[in-house]
Amino acid sequence: MVKIPGRFITIEGGEGAGKSTHIELIVQWLNAQGIDHLRTREPGGTPLAEEVRKLLLERHDEPLQPMTELLLIFAARAQHLQTLIEPALSRGQWVLCERFTDSTYVYQGCGRGLPQENVATLEALVQGSRRPDYTFLLDVPVEVGLRRAAKRGQLDRFESEPAVFFHKIRNAYLERARREPGRFLVIDANRAAREIARDIETTLARIAGEGRNV
Ligand code: TMP
Repeated sequence: MVKIPGRFITIEGGEGAGKSTHIELIVQWLNAQGIDHLRTREPGGTPLAEEVRKLLLERHDEPLQPMTELLLIFAARAQHLQTLIEPALSRGQWVLCERFTDSTYVYQGCGRGLPQENVATLEALVQGSRRPDYTFLLDVPVEVGLRRAAKRGQLDRFESEPAVFFHKIRNAYLERARREPGRFLVIDANRAAREIARDIETTLARIAGEGRNV
């Protein structure tokens, strides 16, 4: 295995943006380069955190309150970070995580309307100074993403939200990316898979190159 310092990379985007497909591609690229890595996702990533994921995605007769949703997400994140992500980064592995706290700012903050400061407070409490090094934002028009999500079968509790919710989500992601251009890598995901893959691979090669100079 090649010795490059661990990197914490997250993949974000709305429903049907192609996150799972492209994370698979990143995994293949890392394997080809011999870079040791861990692939994981949020909410979830450990057996307990996956239980919390089920609670979050299932529909309930008793509506889940936005604050309860926020706290469950950070409870799962605390478990995931302590037991999986931090140890992997300490070992020098690259961590590829499908969704992380940008999702919380965007879904619970902008989507559900909770104050951004509440998210920031929990972020500081649960993560300390840990933030992703790089974040790929897969951007697709809302209608395209929702059509793809609908084809996958039954919609979960989030996917069942009206289109207006997902317009807020998309705008909020793009706004976050504008504010942190050094961390966000915005990918136009409404193109042929081959073109998207080429963009992602070029960026990964640059990130790996930076690692070699550290
Ligand atoms: P997925 O379908 O992309 O795996 O994600 C599950 C859902 O969880 C997705 O609809 C977005 C939602 N989510 C939040 O609302 N806040 C969060 O912090 C995370 C990580 C996910």
